[in-house]
Amino acid sequence: TEIASRTAAIIDEMKGLEGPLLPILHSIQEEFGHVPKDALPMIADGLNLSRAEAHGVVSFYHDFRAKPAGRHVLKLCQAEACQSMGSDAVAAKVKQLLGIDFHETARDGSVTLEPVYCLGLCACSPSAMLDGEVIGRLDDEKIEEIVAEVRS
Ligand code: FES
Repeated sequence: TEIASRTAAIIDEMKGLEGPLLPILHSIQEEFGHVPKDALPMIADGLNLSRAEAHGVVSFYHDFRAKPAGRHVLKLCQAEACQSMGSDAVAAKVKQLLGIDFHETARDGSVTLEPVYCLGLCACSPSAMLDGEVIGRLDDEKIEEIVAEVRS
């Protein structure tokens, strides 16, 4: 399959690196938008890791997705500065409006919701990132705009 051949090429290209597992996983996610289940045994074999080890790394790092993302990816900052400015309430509101929890994708495929731990925008907390663009000072109005945008 396409996934198998691209995965094999990435592993080949990068397995000589020191600590190759994370760079390989990042490349695969960049290529496919997620880390396909079928890629894991190939990576494990290529790096002489057990499958459990490879799987453990993917589930430990929240950067990696096991399933394809929605058309939009919305990340809400949950780190300290944002916490102190009400990121919990923001997250609760977004989850309620979208009807999904963190690490989930809306059933219509419109949006994937993920937590993120500091976007470097602490001065404008609480903050978020929508499709790679940072948004600061989230308030009810901005939240509603974001939700409308991902749904359109
Ligand atoms: Fe949220 Fe830094 S803690 S941007």
